[in-house]
Amino acid sequence: MLSYEELTDLDHQFLLHPQHHPSDHVEPIIFARGEGAILWDVRGRRYIDGLACLWNVNVGHGRRELAAAAARQMEELAFVNSYVGSSNVPAITLAERVAKLAPPGLNTTFFTTGGAESNDTAFKTARFYWSIKGQPEKAKIIGRVNGYHGVSIGATSATHLPVFHPRFGPLAPGFLHVPAMDPDALEETIQREGPETVAAVVAEPVQGAGGVYPPPADYFARVREVCDHYEVLLIADEVITGFGRLGTFWGLQQWDVTPDIISFAKGITSGYMPLGGVILSDTIRSLIYEQPPEIKWMHAFTYSAHPACCAVAHANLDIIEREGLVERAARLAPRLHTRLGVLRDEPSVKEVRGLGMMAGIELRPDRVPGSAGAVIAELKRRGVFTRHRLDTICLSPTLVIKEEELEELCDVVIQTVRDLATK
Ligand SMILES: Cc1ncc(COP(=O)(O)O)c(C=O)c1O
Repeated sequence: MLSYEELTDLDHQFLLHPQHHPSDHVEPIIFARGEGAILWDVRGRRYIDGLACLWNVNVGHGRRELAAAAARQMEELAFVNSYVGSSNVPAITLAERVAKLAPPGLNTTFFTTGGAESNDTAFKTARFYWSIKGQPEKAKIIGRVNGYHGVSIGATSATHLPVFHPRFGPLAPGFLHVPAMDPDALEETIQREGPETVAAVVAEPVQGAGGVYPPPADYFARVREVCDHYEVLLIADEVITGFGRLGTFWGLQQWDVTPDIISFAKGITSGYMPLGGVILSDTIRSLIYEQPPEIKWMHAFTYSAHPACCAVAHANLDIIEREGLVERAARLAPRLHTRLGVLRDEPSVKEVRGLGMMAGIELRPDRVPGSAGAVIAELKRRGVFTRHRLDTICLSPTLVIKEEELEELCDVVIQTVRDLATK
C-alpha cells in the first residue's frame, strides 16, 4: 500500500484534476472509503460528506447492492452499443421506469453519461425540433445569470458563471443569459431577440453550483407562461434536483410546472456509475419518430444506455423507493434550514438560503478573512467535506444522513463560521 506522501507525489506528477490549479492541490484529501454520509481518507481521517460529494451521492456511500448490481450486469453483458438497431434489457426497462416517474406527457428518454452531455443533448434536440418544424433560425438558447450546466463546449456556453469562460473561447454561438429570477427580463429578451430566433430556455429549479439560489414561489409558473406565449421550449436542468433532493421527485414539481425537456444525471445512480439523460415531451418525441427515414436525429454517445450503468440506476431507484428517500429529504429539510438559520444573526453572514436538502450560507467577505474559501479549508480540518462558490458555502448532504450526523454537520459549520469571523 502506497503512503499518503507517495500517493500525493504521484497525483502531482500524473493526474490533472477538474478545475485544476496546483496551488489548490498541495495537500489533497485522498479518499479511501465511505459509508452512509461519512467518508474516510487514506490517513484514516473521518469527514461528514456535506455535499453528497457533488450533489449526487443521494443514497449515501458504501451501498453493496449497487456494486452487486454492476457486477451482475457486467458478468452477463458489460457493454453493447445502443445505436439504433440494437438495445439492451436494463436500458429498456429503465427508460420505461423513468417515464413512469416523469411528469405526465414526458415519456421518452435518451441516456447519456452525465449532466453536460444531457444538456448538450437537450439544446441540440430543441434546435432539431424547430428546424424540422421549418424554423431552423429558431436556435438561440437562453440561460440564466449564475446558471451552471456543465462544461462541454455547448454546456459551457449555456453556463453563465464567468469563471468557466476565459481562455476557452470562442464559446458556441447562439447562447445568451438573462437575470436569473426575473421572468419579465426573460420576456423582454425574447421580444428583443425575436421569438422566431429563440429555441429554448434552460433553468435549474434551484441554482446549485452558482451558490444555491432558490427561485421566488411564482417564478417558474411565469417562465412557463412566457415560454408558452412565445413558443419557446422550457428545459429543466434537473441534474442536481432530480431524484428527490428537494423533497419532491423532480425540482419543478415544487411549483407544479412541467417542462418540455428534463435534463438529468447525478441522482439517477447516486454517482455509483456515470449516467444521465434527457426526457422528452410527447410532442418532441412524435416529431422525431414521425420523420421519413432520411431525416434522422443524428445524435449519439458510445456509452448511451450503458447496460451496467442502467442496472445500477435500477438498484439505486429501488433504494430510493424502498427507503422513502424523497419523503426523507422533505422531512429532514426543515431541520437543516432551521439549524443553519441561526447564522442569520451573525454579522459575518449576509444570507442563509436554500430549499429541500440544498443550503447556501453567504458570508460577508469583509467580516471573514479569506471568506468562504477559508471556511471550507477549516471545515476540512474539522471533518466536514464540502465546497463553496465565491462567498457562499454550499451544503447538500446525502439523503440518508442520520439525524445526529445532520446535527453534527450543522454544529461544525455554525461554529466554524463563528470562529473565523473577525471579532
Ligand atoms: C445543474 C447542473 N447541470 C449540469 C451539470 C454538469 O454535470 P456533469 O459534471 O455531469 O457534466 C451540473 C454539475 O454539477 C449541474 O449541477
